[in-house]
Amino acid sequence: MTANVPLTQTDIAAISRRLDRPVVLVGLMGVGKSTVGRRLASMLNRDFVDADDAIEQAAQRSIPEIFDEFGEGYFRDGERRVIGRLIEESTGVIATGGGAFVDTETRQIILERGLAVWIDCDIDTLVERTSRRNTRPLLRNGDPRKILTDLMGARQQFYAQAPIRVESHDGPHSDTARAIIEAIDEWL
Ligand code: S3P
Repeated sequence: MTANVPLTQTDIAAISRRLDRPVVLVGLMGVGKSTVGRRLASMLNRDFVDADDAIEQAAQRSIPEIFDEFGEGYFRDGERRVIGRLIEESTGVIATGGGAFVDTETRQIILERGLAVWIDCDIDTLVERTSRRNTRPLLRNGDPRKILTDLMGARQQFYAQAPIRVESHDGPHSDTARAIIEAIDEWL
């Protein structure tokens, strides 16, 4: 596709047809994986599934409850199983929790059977976005800016293994969804 020429509906439909595996969104908490994912799926005319929601359904508990009752290790085991199942079942867009792609086995499953897209974002925007909801166990104890900065330092090396990286700015999520489609088009 020629640079700077906006994709038409017909272009997007053609890209969607060529895509033979689920698109798996990875990246830190607050980058907008779920919102962008919903938008992306609707633009591609594909299904959307949020892995965190699927984990909550399977466990019949909220994520903070899973962390509190069973600990992070248990959550990661469930996350690995659920993402493995979703990747088998889905041909659409899957949003994953921020730590999923850091787990070696989960990352391997995603890299083998899906198309991983890292949504990257600056820390100021992440701090602002994550402050709107208090449902993230990893941000409850301590200064969210420091926690997010430390997580970014530790996780970047894993996110960078995704074949596609797209920056999310403070603008509308539909811009990020569109940038992902352009990047998929280049990748295909
Ligand atoms: C986590 C991110 C959360 C959720 C859990 C752990 C992480 O998902 O999976 O709280 O380790 O970064 P979001 O990235 O959707 O907030």
